[in-house]
Amino acid sequence: MNTLHLTPDQIGEASAVIRRGGLLVFPTETVYGLGASAWDERACARIFEAKGRPADNPLIVHVFGTAMVAEVASAVPKVAERLFEAFSPGPLTVILPRGPRIPDAVTAGLDTVGVRIPSHPVAQSLLKASGMPVAAPSANRSGLPSPTTFHTAVRQMDGRVDAVIDGGQCSHGVESTIVRVSGERVRILREGAVTREMIEEVVGAGVASERAAGAGGAAEAPGTRHIHYRPRAPLRLVSTEELAEALRSHAHLRIGYIGLTPLRGNLTTIPAVSVYAGSLADYARRLYRSFYLFDAEGCELIVAERPAPTGVGRALRDRLMRAAQ
Ligand code: TXA
Ligand code: MG
Repeated sequence: MNTLHLTPDQIGEASAVIRRGGLLVFPTETVYGLGASAWDERACARIFEAKGRPADNPLIVHVFGTAMVAEVASAVPKVAERLFEAFSPGPLTVILPRGPRIPDAVTAGLDTVGVRIPSHPVAQSLLKASGMPVAAPSANRSGLPSPTTFHTAVRQMDGRVDAVIDGGQCSHGVESTIVRVSGERVRILREGAVTREMIEEVVGAGVASERAAGAGGAAEAPGTRHIHYRPRAPLRLVSTEELAEALRSHAHLRIGYIGLTPLRGNLTTIPAVSVYAGSLADYARRLYRSFYLFDAEGCELIVAERPAPTGVGRALRDRLMRAAQ
């Protein structure tokens, strides 16, 4: 398949791809998504093919604004409304009861649907111009890190989709926070840039993580059963104290380093490629991009510094731990 490369001023062409049942890779503020009309069962089935994604892993549905949430969900609890009001458009996905028009291919047969209102201007214009909800997982081949730049998105999906539209570098760099609501209770299924602290400011203390609560139970986010976020090179996740020793003991390998701590003295000469993050947000923004860079540079080992478990640090630790498995 010949894949069109579009610029942000070609929203008309991009939305035409969605409307005619095609596949479009588009930027969001978290990662690039691989989108199709959420009303179109066949187009959604093609998403699974293009990614090599297991059919039991449901897709998130992207809508333009809160008014459109009711078109894809059969009910919107008060607490979900408050969360959308506080964090949307932005990197938050809320699991809601599935609306009758949503096909099985989107939800993998579940009676719920994940709904998100992205804030990236290209995603916003696309959703507005398409006039329909867009189902989209991250635009990576299954098991690989999510693309956070146009270049890596094209590398993943060229020849597999109808078009890719350029939106530059994604500002958050890790996937959206996913929450499930039941009554007044909110549980986090996947950590992201909307942090637990931020959610608790809106709904009060006591927000739990669903995986921790229901360890291994059927309520788990389906996607957490599948391999994710993995670069080609093995990854060692180390504390700041372990960093120097981890680098020295693997100095014979071609190492890619990512972390917050600048290397000093002769440690600077050990990694072939070093990515220094200036803050937790910067670490998140650069993470997947660095995975692709380390792979392209032929690194044999990735050494990553474990960030503190505060704010977006929790999402980072989650992705790093999965990448290290
Ligand atoms: O930031 C993001 O969320 C990006 C951008 C493109 O929006 N999308 C993304 O999609 O990360 P994906 O498919 O790579 O991850 C979505 C996760 C999957 O683990 C899936 O299992 C889970 O959300 N999910 C989707 N619908 C669900 C549902 N109804 N119940 C539970 N989990 C669901
Ligand atoms: Mg994904």
